[in-house]
Amino acid sequence: MSKIKIVTVVGARPQFIKASAISNAIRNTFADAITEVIVHTGQHYDSKLSDIFFKELNIPKEDYNLHVGSGTHAAQTAKMLTALEEVYEKELPQLVLVYGDTNSTLAAALVASKMHIPVAHVEAGLRSFNKHMPEELNRIATDHFSTLLFCPTQTAVNNLKHEGFSNTNKKPGINNPAVFLSGDVMFDVNLLIKPMLHATVKNEEQKYALLTLHRAENTDNPEVLSQLVEAILQVLEMGIKIWFPVHPRTKAAMQENLPLTLANQFLQHKNISILEPLGFLEMMQAIHDAEFVLTDSGGVQKEAYFFQKPLLILREQTEWVELVNHGAAVLCGHDKEKICHGVEQINNFRSKKFPYFYGEGNAAHIILKEILNTF
Ligand code: UD1
Repeated sequence: MSKIKIVTVVGARPQFIKASAISNAIRNTFADAITEVIVHTGQHYDSKLSDIFFKELNIPKEDYNLHVGSGTHAAQTAKMLTALEEVYEKELPQLVLVYGDTNSTLAAALVASKMHIPVAHVEAGLRSFNKHMPEELNRIATDHFSTLLFCPTQTAVNNLKHEGFSNTNKKPGINNPAVFLSGDVMFDVNLLIKPMLHATVKNEEQKYALLTLHRAENTDNPEVLSQLVEAILQVLEMGIKIWFPVHPRTKAAMQENLPLTLANQFLQHKNISILEPLGFLEMMQAIHDAEFVLTDSGGVQKEAYFFQKPLLILREQTEWVELVNHGAAVLCGHDKEKICHGVEQINNFRSKKFPYFYGEGNAAHIILKEILNTF
């Protein structure tokens, strides 16, 4: 059997985490059947958002880096489109593998589908039903350009069904895409990481909640960002210590979009620890040790759940609806009352245990087997 060549396209922090599960499975188990070429678009270029993840997650150095950097959505995506076309022309892959919902995902899938190269989308079928989010547009378009759709949850499979994907896997093609319930590769990664963490016992003084914030819907609207910061200030005033690793987007937005007095009050509060972005292992340890988590990140929502941490979601909707439906998380948006009420109720959901929603930790193997079955 001749080997199949896959081009994997990644570009942003959450994609490095997801790609590590598949890249490692290719090298450890499927090396005789699959050759992988890794393309980094350069969407994330700070070493704290990129290099450290390659190193800690043992991802081979990329074969290409497109160095697209920051820009408007159109400028960033356009640069990726032209550069990716050249890579595909040179490499002639049998399949392009994309992850999640970023501009890198969209660009990679669009170019491949126009060149009639099949696309496999890992994390297919997720929907927030809010098309003001760039990620929602990216994931809808990517699903519709794909031939193999790997869903992390049954909800995602159902979402695709509603959009007319017939869920057949006979001779899949772009007009007849196959939908698979693979489970979530992030759960695979989490199971590998857990044994590397250490048990920590914190005294009252050392206890903290972990906060992350970076969604455009929260950072780019001055009113929303101010309300969120005021809500977090109230939580700090309740005597709760908060660790806040700050995404570069958020750092810039806080300087631009917050009144100076509010920004100073927040950043200089005695109960907040403002941190640089954390590496992957540091972040996992931070979630593992936290009392609870406040976040607008898709990935961190699930990681909080993997560590069975109470979770307050700082968004109006979530794609991970099973967390909310089973009471593992509360949707708070940027509403001060909901956030403070959520914090007051933390002890009520600390004692609950929740079922596994995201597969059995073997999603990468399922995905690679299905890819090999198709070719
Ligand atoms: C992107 C994804 C989002 C994902 C997130 C994870 C899109 C539309 N969004 O959001 O789905 O959850 O990554 O982090 O693709 N910046 C830096 N250094 C970097 C990267 C970004 O300073 O290494 C700053 C720049 O000011 C840039 C801004 O962050 O303009 C936004 O970066 P961008 O790549 O557009 O999106 P993210 O907000 O990171």
